[in-house]
Amino acid sequence: MDIVMRLFTGIRALRLWAIASLVGNILIVVSGAVVRLTDSGLGCPTWPRCTPDAYVPHAALGHRGVIEFGNRLVTFALAIVVIGTLVTAWRLKTNARAHRDLRVLAIILAVSIPIQAVIGGVTVLSGLNPFVVALHLLASLVLICVCVLFIYRVYDLPRVPAGRPGLIAVRATFVLMCVAVWLGTVVTGSGPHSGARGAARTGFDGVVVSHLHAMAVYGVIAGTLACIVLLRSRAAVLLLGVELIQGLIGFVQYFTGLPIALVVLHLLGASLAMASATDLLLSVRRSTMPARVDPTQIMLAQIMPAQVVQPNADHTRDDQNATPELHR
Ligand code: HEM
Repeated sequence: MDIVMRLFTGIRALRLWAIASLVGNILIVVSGAVVRLTDSGLGCPTWPRCTPDAYVPHAALGHRGVIEFGNRLVTFALAIVVIGTLVTAWRLKTNARAHRDLRVLAIILAVSIPIQAVIGGVTVLSGLNPFVVALHLLASLVLICVCVLFIYRVYDLPRVPAGRPGLIAVRATFVLMCVAVWLGTVVTGSGPHSGARGAARTGFDGVVVSHLHAMAVYGVIAGTLACIVLLRSRAAVLLLGVELIQGLIGFVQYFTGLPIALVVLHLLGASLAMASATDLLLSVRRSTMPARVDPTQIMLAQIMPAQVVQPNADHTRDDQNATPELHR
């Protein structure tokens, strides 16, 4: 019983739940993609049982039954993780602002599950309308960003100060990544992987939208290079690595007729790209350099270092709100 309680108690337990939430949300993107790409949406014909007389698929349902059942297991695991996260966040002892923020993020993650279930239902009712399918994926990618924010908060990760050009480069890179990802969903909606025979397509020219998607990706890569030059940031280098691998997968799948395995890898890459772009976005903060150094402050700092408040210091970060417990 003690071990079970420890799973839901304290900031360390919450850190594990935060990592599990990120992994779970990435897995659900990948498993959902496998279901769509293999046309396995009806692999288990009933719910919550797989067949009217069993919870697990039998051999006659073939690989589609196994894939659909696997997707149900991932959804179930994610639901458990989300509940674990919420309970642990709620049980944090203090009511400090940092802890309240963690609770709000845990609620967002918890509420996302029924919301995604509704969007999933609308997806089916719309006959797999490509824009609704895209919304379902984009919502999952937003949740991955929320998970990264949650990890930043729960680990109280440091953010490096950046000047105006660096901040602009980071924000522009994040926005361009969102545009590239959205255009990617338009490419998918215009291509052959609809998820069911006869499902509607966007009607756009697949080649044209693929070029637009790739152009947005060039923009993201240019923005990331600017971040590396301006900030020498490790988060930007990591993002560039993810982008180059993801870009390579994109080109290979484009020129080889969209094989399913590569399309799944591309979706995993899209999840990691959004996570890394969010990491870069959160890794910086406005520079704390005071615009003007007040000599009185320098003198005071030498006499009573602890009493001095920087005149133009940036207090937007949660340093002042973080409880000592949160600091590593
Ligand atoms: C940072 C790099 C990239 C990211 C984050 C990204 C992201 C995405 C996303 C989110 C999708 C939609 C997947 C879906 O709706 O199931 C997609 C689809 C696609 N992407 Fe990319 N992509 C990147 C680079 C590229 C590049 C360089 C190409 C080369 C042309 C490319 C080609 C494609 C194609 C052809 C599809 C449609 C796949 C299908 O029909 O299932 N991608 N991409």
